[in-house]
Amino acid sequence: MEDTFRNIHETGVEKRLINRRQIWAANRFWMEVDNMKTKRYGNRGRHHWQALLTLMRVFKFCLRISGCYHRGVRNAMDIRLRELDLTFPDLPKSFHGFSILHLSDLHLDGSEGLAESIVATIGDHEVDLCVLTGDYRTKLHGVNKHIMTGLSYLVDNIRSRHGFLGILGNHDDCHMVNPMEKMGIQMLINSTCLIEKEGERIQFIGTDDVHYYYTDQALHCLEPAENEFSIALVHSPELFDLAAAMGVDLYLCGHTHAGQVCLPGGVALLKHLNRGHAYYRGHWRHGEMQGVTNAGVGTSGIPVRFNTRGEILIHHLRGQETRAEN
Ligand SMILES: [Fe+2]
Repeated sequence: MEDTFRNIHETGVEKRLINRRQIWAANRFWMEVDNMKTKRYGNRGRHHWQALLTLMRVFKFCLRISGCYHRGVRNAMDIRLRELDLTFPDLPKSFHGFSILHLSDLHLDGSEGLAESIVATIGDHEVDLCVLTGDYRTKLHGVNKHIMTGLSYLVDNIRSRHGFLGILGNHDDCHMVNPMEKMGIQMLINSTCLIEKEGERIQFIGTDDVHYYYTDQALHCLEPAENEFSIALVHSPELFDLAAAMGVDLYLCGHTHAGQVCLPGGVALLKHLNRGHAYYRGHWRHGEMQGVTNAGVGTSGIPVRFNTRGEILIHHLRGQETRAEN
């Protein structure tokens, strides 16, 4: 792994970062045990995960008696690799062709052998950077050891020149951060890092989850976006308009599973979003900002998919002028 990240650790304020991280962890832990969903402007409400799980169990029973369950499980394991070309007029020239492997919503406890399937699907691809946009597990509480085993397998078997960046999703807890960093995933918790190449640089900004655990820090950390070419990593598309207003160039997210169980044509029955419903899947634009909502690799609730598939994305950044010259 090339050590090309420049982050706040190297700017002489490591102690302040530690204190900030500790304050964040204490606040996040309180929100986790509270089982409440925190939204912008201090709005709070019960999240309905347990009710949803009950609904899913009824749905699973219906699938079993109708004979569709196993087809849904096969669909869920049919993970596809997609490559996207994303063109930006202001991309620093040396980042033309920079490739980003984007994994989201692994839910490693939801399906057997998922980490191995991911590695097999990626195959021989070597990328410049791998980003993980949250939801490494399905359960909201409890031990994470088995999740870390799966993540460690991914880190050991994915070839990424500049390493791994990660953020937390709404299924993840604050205790996952340290073990993930120990295995080599740089966790962006409302913080930024720079990647440099040939004297130029791009900025990655990672927020904590804003679907269950919104805090104003998630919004404030997007403020430096206007200073550099910036890629935001946010678990869900719910900050789309604010990120665009702050000058983010590319917004990478997941969370929705592209609906997971959809009507024909991929029309989602449930999107699990408080806002940004139009951006529940695929490549989109909002103003000058581009975004990609990854359909995710895994499943949550029950391990089935209908009329949508799990996906692993490789984004190829293209500069408009460089592209025209070629
Ligand atoms: Fe999520």
